Amino acid sequence: MYRPLANIWKFNFNSLKRCYQSSKALPDLTKDRYAVKRGDYATIDDNDIKHFESIVSSSRCITDTSDIEPYNVDFLGAVRGYSQVLLKPKTTEEVSAILKYCNSRKLAVASQGGNTGLVGGSVPVFDEVILSMQLMNKIEHVDETAGILVCQSGCILEKLEEHVSNCGLSMPIDLGAKGTCHIGGNVSTNAGGLRLIRYGNLHGNVLGVEAVKADGTILDLMSNFKKDNTGYHLKHLFIGSEGTLGVITKLAIACPTASKAVNVAFLGLESYDALLKTFLAAKRDLGEILSACELIDKLSLEAVLQQYKLNSPLSEYPFYLLLETSGSNMEHDEEKISHFLESAMERGDILDGTVTNETSKVARIWQLRETISTALVKEGYVFKYDVSLPLSHFYDIVPVMRERVGDLAYRVCGYGHVGDSNLHLNVSCAEFNQEIYKRVEPFVYEYTSKLRGSVSAEHGIGFLKTNYLKYSKQPEALNLMKEMKAVMDPNGILNPYKVLPRQN
Ligand code: FAD
Ligand code: MLT
Ligand code: ZN
Repeated sequence: MYRPLANIWKFNFNSLKRCYQSSKALPDLTKDRYAVKRGDYATIDDNDIKHFESIVSSSRCITDTSDIEPYNVDFLGAVRGYSQVLLKPKTTEEVSAILKYCNSRKLAVASQGGNTGLVGGSVPVFDEVILSMQLMNKIEHVDETAGILVCQSGCILEKLEEHVSNCGLSMPIDLGAKGTCHIGGNVSTNAGGLRLIRYGNLHGNVLGVEAVKADGTILDLMSNFKKDNTGYHLKHLFIGSEGTLGVITKLAIACPTASKAVNVAFLGLESYDALLKTFLAAKRDLGEILSACELIDKLSLEAVLQQYKLNSPLSEYPFYLLLETSGSNMEHDEEKISHFLESAMERGDILDGTVTNETSKVARIWQLRETISTALVKEGYVFKYDVSLPLSHFYDIVPVMRERVGDLAYRVCGYGHVGDSNLHLNVSCAEFNQEIYKRVEPFVYEYTSKLRGSVSAEHGIGFLKTNYLKYSKQPEALNLMKEMKAVMDPNGILNPYKVLPRQN
């Protein structure tokens, strides 16, 4: 019997709304908050609506303002557009017909998956046509032996995990937004998440892509093989390009075998230094069974405990480390874990800890990590930074930032995928605040750049970080990106104002 991960650590995250919490006031329009200028695009008229209805039928061409609103505002409440039309295609051919028409009319398009993106990429900036992939949710095929899933891009990640787990497989990606985000959104952002340390990023796990170009051309780059060295590796253009080069309609994903033995340890530590030593020991002692390595600082855990009225299994420590192992033999894995924990405690690196393979306890421990993001959003507005930093300086920026924002913020905390050198630095406050904004940006990016880190480890560039891309990419690289955009989307209709630096 498999004990697939899906049944162990999945919470019901349906409460994660498609967008900003409805209880809060609507955020400012993006054009006002960030003073952006609308591009030279056409505006929608009645003939356009009639044409869209002829492609997707009137029931999937939505023009009612209140129905469109959740698609106009992002999850964080950081950006808001004012699109007047939302289209919900069901097939690749419909996507193709929509884009062909928009391209000929020079109508801008914002493609949208589950709208869980954290960089303002998923919603229109002005009045772009919203292309929701929500109804493109067919699972086409699972090859149990080869470990391959073929599905449409609008499938929800958690649904895919449930589906493949019935075949003894697992998805190579997992993240807190699993109940809402789409696999197409994951691939478009090259999302990282909680299992990257084990399975690597999506450039390695996406075997095939079907995508539609701005002019409506359907590109069939589907493949069921890990090995395919024929010509330019075009599928990679769509992985992580955040909908600016094409719309992903179908995917083939390599799915690893589901693990029969899953253990989770939640450890309390006195310092970041002790945490680093524990991470190194975990890599050496646990080796191939290590499947997650997450840092949580005291204030991040506090947010979760307060907002969700939860209890921690440990008393208070400056740092916590959540380690997960996934293997095929419980006895063997437990032996390794015991050896690792005993040695680390003897050395004094770990002060306290709990380890479990009981389904409900494993789930409760993961909940402490996975809900930090939503707990912070519940507190008000969050300035969110997702950076790659060298492990030797990984946490330094958190106290530096605390000092910079002082009492203006509720909370400055750090958590993240320390196993992959990816820190999530978060500054939460009552509402969007220009003074905090000025104190954190561009400081955080300059700081990251000096350490040769990345200004976006996994969330992407979207709308919010376009002006900071230069901190991680040289001018020559930016120019090549612009040239590629011009070749793939000469009229610039796909996700304008996103990824590439803006003129204003
Ligand atoms: P959306 O938010 O709808 O869109 C994101 C971008 O992809 C946009 O630019 C959009 O235009 C584009 N896009 C979407 N679908 C398509 C398509 N079919 N074709 C072309 N372009 C498309 N991210 C991580 O990397 N790691 C994490 O651990 C993580 N955890 C999260 C936890 C929570 C609670 C939340 C709210 C978010 C988290 N995220 C994380 C961010 C987010 O979930 C991911 O970026 C996710 O991959 C976005 O998927 P989505 O379907 O919601 O896409
Ligand atoms: C996470 O790891 O929890 C996500 O990337 C979301 C976040 O940064 O809050
Ligand atoms: Zn993350």
